[in-house]
Amino acid sequence: MMLRSLAVSLSVANAAVAAFSFNPLEHLAGIAPYFEPEDPPLDPKPPQGCNVSRATYLVRHAAIYANDFDYEEYIEPFTDKLENASVDWSKAGPLSFLGTWKTPISDEELEDLTKIGELESYKLGVDVSLRYPSLKRPNKVWTSTAERTELSASSFIDGLSRSNETKRVSVPGSEAEGADSLTPYKGCPKYSSSYGSNQSSEYKEKYTKPIIERFKDLAPGLNFTADDIVGMQELCGYETVIRGSSHFCNLELFTANDWLGFEYMNDIQYFYNAGYANPISGVLGFPWVNASASLLLEDKADQDIYVSFTHRELPPTVIVALGLFNNSMYSGTNNPNATMPLTTQNHNRVWKSSAILPFLTNIAVEKMSCDSYGYDAGHYFRVLVNQSPQQLPNCSDGPGESCSKSAFQDFVSRRGDEFGSFTEKCQPEYTNSTDILTIYDA
Ligand SMILES: *[C@@H]1O[C@H](CO)[C@@H](O)[C@H](O)[C@H]1NC(C)=O
Ligand SMILES: *[C@@H]1O[C@H](CO)[C@@H](O)[C@H](O)[C@H]1NC(C)=O
Ligand SMILES: *[C@@H]1O[C@H](CO)[C@@H](O)[C@H](O)[C@H]1NC(C)=O
Ligand SMILES: *[C@@H]1O[C@H](CO)[C@@H](O)[C@H](O)[C@H]1NC(C)=O
Ligand SMILES: *[C@@H]1O[C@H](CO)[C@@H](O)[C@H](O)[C@H]1NC(C)=O
Ligand SMILES: *[C@@H]1O[C@H](CO)[C@@H](O)[C@H](O)[C@H]1NC(C)=O
Ligand SMILES: *[C@@H]1O[C@H](CO)[C@@H](O)[C@H](O)[C@H]1NC(C)=O
Ligand SMILES: *[C@@H]1O[C@H](CO)[C@@H](O)[C@H](O)[C@H]1NC(C)=O
Ligand SMILES: *[C@@H]1O[C@H](CO)[C@@H](O)[C@H](O)[C@H]1NC(C)=O
Ligand SMILES: *[C@@H]1O[C@H](CO)[C@@H](O)[C@H](O)[C@H]1NC(C)=O
Repeated sequence: MMLRSLAVSLSVANAAVAAFSFNPLEHLAGIAPYFEPEDPPLDPKPPQGCNVSRATYLVRHAAIYANDFDYEEYIEPFTDKLENASVDWSKAGPLSFLGTWKTPISDEELEDLTKIGELESYKLGVDVSLRYPSLKRPNKVWTSTAERTELSASSFIDGLSRSNETKRVSVPGSEAEGADSLTPYKGCPKYSSSYGSNQSSEYKEKYTKPIIERFKDLAPGLNFTADDIVGMQELCGYETVIRGSSHFCNLELFTANDWLGFEYMNDIQYFYNAGYANPISGVLGFPWVNASASLLLEDKADQDIYVSFTHRELPPTVIVALGLFNNSMYSGTNNPNATMPLTTQNHNRVWKSSAILPFLTNIAVEKMSCDSYGYDAGHYFRVLVNQSPQQLPNCSDGPGESCSKSAFQDFVSRRGDEFGSFTEKCQPEYTNSTDILTIYDA
């Protein structure tokens, strides 16, 4: 009897293991609704014997209706085409819903935060309060000046306990701020928002080709292009953060492999735009890293928690400045471009933009006081990306792979040797550029 029920539960367990499951929302790159991918799956709690005594956070704004570029380039041309299409939708299989579907995005709402975005940002405020019950609430939270970052900051503040004690501070992001803003790429002529589009286009043509043929078979009246496919896949993300769900996420429409193609195309884009394939990336990310390190290394600081809101370009550059999600690590060589081939997927890459820059992505640097078995008592530092502790290169000699104070100081100074000198490397034409981020000083 015992054995028999064991056999039954084993076969149930096997069936559960065998079922393939896939969530497209976790493969949408910069349009992924906020999630915590546990990449790597280290425990987010402070290690045994450690208390967090101070922290800095860099946060991308929460979910928006659509960004201008995605809308104009991919989504609007597709929705315009739909209006005129003569297709018998009843025969179009998983595309049938398009017969009655209406776009959730209008020109007026473009770039605005969605209600789900507001909610996620509020929840991050709650989470940060719960994570650090014994730290002082922040007096200030910093944000770049766009409406979507300011509203994200406001919702975050509303979610903090005793939120009436926290002020929102807007940081100007003009093109002449040098490294002294939350949008330093705007002041760096060596950065261009178009980097990566040639490379990602190559992969786009490849992964969309069979999808186009499949859709033409379902709806011969609609002349699908590669950009239409991208627009439809983007709508899965945007419609989900606007309406709560989307037919475009249906796995009968786009298979798991189709989503992996979309994700890889985006990963190439960000890798060449603001990642390891662009030599200016680390230069753009270093000022925030250095300012964070300064705030954390001081004996005393005005605040216990420093939170700043920015746009999608900055977090990946900070990731590079910190040496995280580096495909070349442990490869015995440093040839970043070879790790992201343009015509075939590197499935084993660690550079995954869905993990690095979903909406509301957040990078935290924590200072901890530790008295932990097997380690000297003292201060240790660690970085968390969307709540997952990260292992800094050559800076993981502490409890829970955190980094001792002296190793952290060495680490930041080595990163500075490689990625400091913003002005010299960006070569702006304005003459009052700076290499450091001073917004937290006042
Ligand atoms: C839709 O069809 C009309 C009439 O043929 C045409 O004038 C218009 O440009 C078409 N719109 C799009 C988006 O193709
Ligand atoms: C915030 O609200 C609490 C409780 O209502 C109140 O005691 C405190 O004085 C307020 N603080 C500020 C800075 O307004
Ligand atoms: C440089 O000058 C411009 C124009 O006066 C000003 O807007 C900007 O804030 C200055 N940049 C820095 C880093 O002080
Ligand atoms: C993309 O390719 C075109 C054509 O080869 C070239 O003119 C352009 O400079 C490239 N753009 C970037 C950002 O590399
Ligand atoms: C289909 O789209 C392609 C690429 O945009 C275009 O060259 C072609 O003329 C279109 N064909 C029809 C029938 O609209
Ligand atoms: C990687 O490719 C980019 C864009 O083509 C190029 O600017 C960069 O120098 C390449 N990196 C290396 C290390 O070859
Ligand atoms: C990435 O890893 C390689 C191999 O360890 C290393 O040489 C390179 O400096 C790293 N890149 C960055 C920007 O940290
Ligand atoms: C951490 O906090 C607990 C509770 O306040 C305290 O008992 C402990 O001594 C602290 N440990 C360190 C290393 O600061
Ligand atoms: C690793 O860190 C140690 C201690 O901080 C330092 O002495 C050493 O130069 C570092 N090695 C590399 C390759 O950066
Ligand atoms: C890092 O920040 C400190 C404090 O602002 C500054 O003195 C130092 O020059 C910065 N390092 C680099 C490499 O920019």
